[in-house]
Amino acid sequence: MSFEKKADLIVGLQWGDEGKGKIVDLLASKYDYVVRYQGGHNAGHTIVLDGKKIALHLIPSGVLNPKAINIIGNGVVVSPFHLIEEMKQFENLEGRLFISDRAHMILPYHAEIDMAKEKMRGSNAIGTTGRGIGPCYTDKVARNGFMIMELLDENTLFKKLEAYFADNKKLFEAYGVEIPSMSELMNEIRRYKEVLAPYISNTTQIVWKALREGKNILLEGAQGTLLDIDHGTYPYVTSSNTIAAGSCSGVGLSPKDIGKVIGIAKAYSTRVGNGVFPTELEDATGEKLRVSGAEFGTTTGRARRCGWFDAVAVRYACRLNGVDAVSLMKLDVLDGFEKIKICIAYKKDGQMLDYVPSSMDGITPVYEEMDGWESLKGAKTFADLPANAQKYVLRLEELIDTKIEMVSISPERNDTIFR
Ligand code: IMP
Repeated sequence: MSFEKKADLIVGLQWGDEGKGKIVDLLASKYDYVVRYQGGHNAGHTIVLDGKKIALHLIPSGVLNPKAINIIGNGVVVSPFHLIEEMKQFENLEGRLFISDRAHMILPYHAEIDMAKEKMRGSNAIGTTGRGIGPCYTDKVARNGFMIMELLDENTLFKKLEAYFADNKKLFEAYGVEIPSMSELMNEIRRYKEVLAPYISNTTQIVWKALREGKNILLEGAQGTLLDIDHGTYPYVTSSNTIAAGSCSGVGLSPKDIGKVIGIAKAYSTRVGNGVFPTELEDATGEKLRVSGAEFGTTTGRARRCGWFDAVAVRYACRLNGVDAVSLMKLDVLDGFEKIKICIAYKKDGQMLDYVPSSMDGITPVYEEMDGWESLKGAKTFADLPANAQKYVLRLEELIDTKIEMVSISPERNDTIFR
């Protein structure tokens, strides 16, 4: 068996919202295929093209390159309703978009359960996007879920849904969520089938064939490493494996199929939702980052929590994902800061830690301070950057022990410096 051609991968190294969409879009012209492997429409990739903002939630970012084929892998949880809405932004996608027949469907009741559960958690709420991601993955793991391909056999799906609601009646009652009317749900399902049937495919076979033919494939991660269900800040995480390893199960690839891993990190940190965030700044500096960086969620519009760059967390993420090169995003947001801090270690129970412990509760950041710069505007090469900005990038590179290959200095495609 030959594994000569490999799929490259883009993965977020923080808590999501690192700016992966811009890099995927930038690289998409090099790739014949762009493939999503986990998550769902909780993701929000914003791409700015010629000043126009395009928000993608489910459709891979390669959709903006007319030559790229876009695949939604089996590991993604797909809301047919939202997918259809998103597809309306584009002209005919047939032949350019394929949805795994094995991807699980988020049906309307999943979002309702998500929100009901959050309400019940009270002050311990995760701060989910309310999109039904967790309840859909829960059903998948509990072997209660419905795969996209089940849309194609309406009668069987009807019977299975009836049985599902009968089995889960008590649960729905406990959550205060109404069991949907079967006739309304089936009408909705018929509409999903009508629109989506031409796109439903065995995407694992498509990807294998593409690799065999030597095509260039990019695997597009959603969310970020610290939100990974196994390696993130559990339970304040999403319900999928966001790390590079998730692409194997989420597409049907072997570890040997993975080629270059590109990690995306913002020049500072943000997080949406609850959970530990060691470098969070709940002061004017955090507010400055939020405003300069337009740190409001693409999916929910929520204000993001902001803080300094956490080199310990990003180093951990680089190791977990086997990152070959990092793209450092939004460096321009740090323009005009007199001093910039970097978290270089954690302190817990009086002890210094240079790694991410299994529980991050109760840790405090240990900072190093650097001088800031005025503005990055107009820089085309690394050498054009102000000396202090160069020093900052080089220091981060040292701390995360991984090459920083690209530096982004504005949302525009062209404002990207390659080193
Ligand atoms: P869920 O994925 O909606 O269940 O949300 C779980 C956690 O992941 C919450 O803290 C969300 O804010 C966070 N989250 C989910 N998707 C994204 C994303 O695309 N970017 C940033 N955070 C996300």
